Amino acid sequence: METDNQNRGPALVDGMGRTIVNLRISVTDRCNFRCTYCMPADNVEFMDRVNLLSFEEITRIATIVSKMGINRLRLTGGEPLMRRDLPVLVNMLSSIDGINDVAMTTNAFFLKDCAKTLRDAGLKRLNVSLDALDPEKFRDVNRRDCLDQVLEGLKEASRAGYESIKINAVAMRNFSETEIMSLIQMGRSDGFEIRFIEFMPLDSDRIWERDKVLFGHEIVDLIREKYELVPIDNSLDIGPASEYRFADGKGKIGIITAVSNPFCDHCNRIRMTADGKLRTCLFSTRETNLKDLLRAGASDEDVATAIRDAVRIKEPGHKINLDDFERPVRAMHAIGG
Ligand code: GTP
Ligand code: 5AD
Ligand code: SF4
Repeated sequence: METDNQNRGPALVDGMGRTIVNLRISVTDRCNFRCTYCMPADNVEFMDRVNLLSFEEITRIATIVSKMGINRLRLTGGEPLMRRDLPVLVNMLSSIDGINDVAMTTNAFFLKDCAKTLRDAGLKRLNVSLDALDPEKFRDVNRRDCLDQVLEGLKEASRAGYESIKINAVAMRNFSETEIMSLIQMGRSDGFEIRFIEFMPLDSDRIWERDKVLFGHEIVDLIREKYELVPIDNSLDIGPASEYRFADGKGKIGIITAVSNPFCDHCNRIRMTADGKLRTCLFSTRETNLKDLLRAGASDEDVATAIRDAVRIKEPGHKINLDDFERPVRAMHAIGG
């Protein structure tokens, strides 16, 4: 059996031979924004707090998977900073033997006051969702009028010494075209990698249509009107983005072509929702209830077996481009991105 994790146990390999090294942990489904591509404007039904995994439960699961070769964790939401005392969890997770990267995806609204505390607690990398630098467009897509606070959060994060800060911009036709160049200019001057993510059918309002996606190749063409881009080889072996560097040496960008050119063959990740359900794909229609297992007194071996069983039948890929595509019941904010 493959043991590439310092002989701590067999690696977590799925039925297609993909080795899982990355767990994304959603810590809450709540969010202070209401982005159109993710949440409804109002009347959101959130998870009951008693169903949220405690920090101890999350850390237990992370410790179990660390012995199966998972070495990277990412905290997601909703908005992860809606969860109180998050630095405490970051500290618990980054102290686990075998975990060498704890990162977070955030909307940056609360970062101004906690970027440094989180960094000191062991958070290494930040991905910030920011789709528009025009205040009105920001308000239209996020349904909140607070671009300035997000930019202040980013500034504070820059000062806090993170190993990397990336910006995620969801790419939507008739929306993103005007924002691409200004985002890129900000990325180049402030040292952020800007990544454009094709809009996926995971929005609560169910407004997604293929025509509303601004495709990755169109974005690359637009950028190439002004900048020379050089593809970076093998970036998909590490994460979901096809990366390019600017030929003048000033920074890089990423394109996440989740719709037009899925990267599922390279997928090395699984997810856990805030209520303790293991999902082996962003688009999974089945889940494994780890919360009930933990709360019924399961041993670490039992939990490990449940995870291994789920991973064995991890979906080969999503079916957005096929006739039998089935949308997951959960919207993005309840899955965790
Ligand atoms: P790093 O590579 O560690 O920087 O993180 P990441 O890019 O995986 O994290 P992030 O949360 O920033 O993810 C960026 C976006 O990529 C997500 O919001 C999703 O839209 C998309 N994405 C991440 N994982 C998957 C996946 O497994 N499948 C698909 N289709 N999209 C994904
Ligand atoms: N399509 C693509 N990306 C999405 N995100 C949220 N909803 C969608 C969607 N429907 C991304 C945001 C954020 C992360 C949490 O998920 O950009 O960075
Ligand atoms: Fe909140 Fe993120 Fe969803 Fe926007 S994309 S509503 S910031 S969870």
